[in-house]
Amino acid sequence: MNQTAAQQHDVIIVGSGAAGLTAALALADKVRVLVLAKGELTGGSTAWAQGGIAAVLDAGDTFEDHIRDTMVAGAGLNRLETVEYVIERAPHAIDRLVQLGVPFNTDGEHLHLTREGGHSHRRIVHVADATGWAVQAALLKAAGDHPNITLLPHRACIDLITGRHEERYSGSGRVWGVYALNEQTGKVEAHTARATVLATGGAGRVYQFSTAPRGATGDGIAMAWRAGCRVGNMEMMQFHPTCLYNLEVKNFLITEAVRGEGGHLINPRTGKRFMEFYDPERLELAPRDVVARAIDSEIKRFGLDYVHLDISHMAPDFVREHFPNIHEKLLGLGIDMTRQPIPVVPAQHYTCGGIVIDLAGRTDLPGLYAAGECTESGLHGANRLASNSLLECFVFGEAAAADILARWDGFDAPPPVRAWDESRVTDSDEEVVIKQNWTEIRRFMWNYVGIVRTTKRLERAKHRIQMMTDEVDEYYAHFRVSTDLIELRNLLQSAELIVRSALVRHESRGLHYTLDYPATLPDARDTLLVP
Ligand code: FAD
Ligand code: SIN
Repeated sequence: MNQTAAQQHDVIIVGSGAAGLTAALALADKVRVLVLAKGELTGGSTAWAQGGIAAVLDAGDTFEDHIRDTMVAGAGLNRLETVEYVIERAPHAIDRLVQLGVPFNTDGEHLHLTREGGHSHRRIVHVADATGWAVQAALLKAAGDHPNITLLPHRACIDLITGRHEERYSGSGRVWGVYALNEQTGKVEAHTARATVLATGGAGRVYQFSTAPRGATGDGIAMAWRAGCRVGNMEMMQFHPTCLYNLEVKNFLITEAVRGEGGHLINPRTGKRFMEFYDPERLELAPRDVVARAIDSEIKRFGLDYVHLDISHMAPDFVREHFPNIHEKLLGLGIDMTRQPIPVVPAQHYTCGGIVIDLAGRTDLPGLYAAGECTESGLHGANRLASNSLLECFVFGEAAAADILARWDGFDAPPPVRAWDESRVTDSDEEVVIKQNWTEIRRFMWNYVGIVRTTKRLERAKHRIQMMTDEVDEYYAHFRVSTDLIELRNLLQSAELIVRSALVRHESRGLHYTLDYPATLPDARDTLLVP
């Protein structure tokens, strides 16, 4: 038994993206905060965000319009209360980022607003086409400068510490922190706190083709589920319509703002725009589920590898100025987007479902909060509106922090907890099991649980997940943990939750489209799974 004592903190935040660091900064004037991150501090999706952040800032725009656009994209599955709560706080979130020094593009004295699919107005603030990097850098700088925040990268959290792990076993669901693998020493550490916030991002890497970074393996969702939290709407996996098609560069996003600023989708076989056959009014700016299904349909009908996204009819200076990073990246691959169309395909992009939280970021378990892409807050419903997700991170990061501070005096100090037990495991002699399963799961999820689904394919996926879970559980019981093993276990858990949720929904709504139930039912109902 490894007897290293637990390290005690006031609040632990798992994740150093937009949600985690927003919560940390909102807490740190009052309490001491530990931020844990797997790999580097910039390893989440936040740093990769391109398009921007949605907020009503233009005189001609209204909260009502932003709320309506969000509900239309979400196919009515959104919780109105959450949508209003988030959208009304968006201007404040942008102010806060400006104060932190995020250099948003301006149009004279106003912030420049770009446009994306599903939005009835220009309302996306951005830093050219690399908004996420600027936001991540500003948040990290502020957190790094704060004396009450400790940033600890290279810690892969394995599981939540609950009443089951107390030295004097209470078996309660109260959460006291996390067990985390120190990726540099190989040792498992116990970190305890009065409150824990999961801000671990999505589960996009469960699919073979995804715009999400390597670490988007659903860790927080799986940890919360194993500890006893409900998860909601996990079948609502969002596919972005325009990921670069390139045999070497697998997951480079071409921002929706390219269509927002006038880009057309063209069938390379016919040379014609095709969105008029699928959504004659909104065309290329229809919500993502509609555009992704249209591209998928063109690719299948015409036997194509990709479709074209073309903005070469706009002035070259305009294109270079709006999309400097994409332009440069593509030039490096031999594509000049000012003169040539860009080959694109849909790819998984965002996890709309997740850990069920309330308006204060509270989960089902005492002492446990969650914020950002790992949650199901009710904002996105059956399909997220573009650029609403960074916004959700800022609003719920702050909400969770405010609730923790408001309840602080009622939170007990963590009790002594058991150290991680390694007495029955050895070093792995069969790493191939991990690699094989990683590849297999991502491939069958893409083929069987993708943009267009059927019950038969979902059942096939379910069967495979069960077999793989048995194999991985056995492996987990016998060998020392590694980040790859932790992630594989969580990917499988996420896949199981996605498939189970998809099988429960007997309709097509938003991102969940099944040939067996093509109609949309009159009442929109959440898919809630209870552990
Ligand atoms: P992330 O930023 O993903 O951070 C997750 C953190 O959790 C990381 O620090 C990670 O290391 C840590 N973590 C995960 N598991 C563990 C573990 N087991 N132990 C310890 N730490 C762990 N949204 C928009 O609104 N506008 C956009 O323009 C936009 N563009 C996008 C472009 C791309 C290419 C992608 C992939 C997404 C985009 N999104 C956009 C979505 C948005 O970026 C994400 O939803 C958002 O950044 C999620 O933030 P987060 O804080 O919830 O998680
Ligand atoms: C994009 O820039 O197209 C991504 C925006 C988003 O995911 O919200």
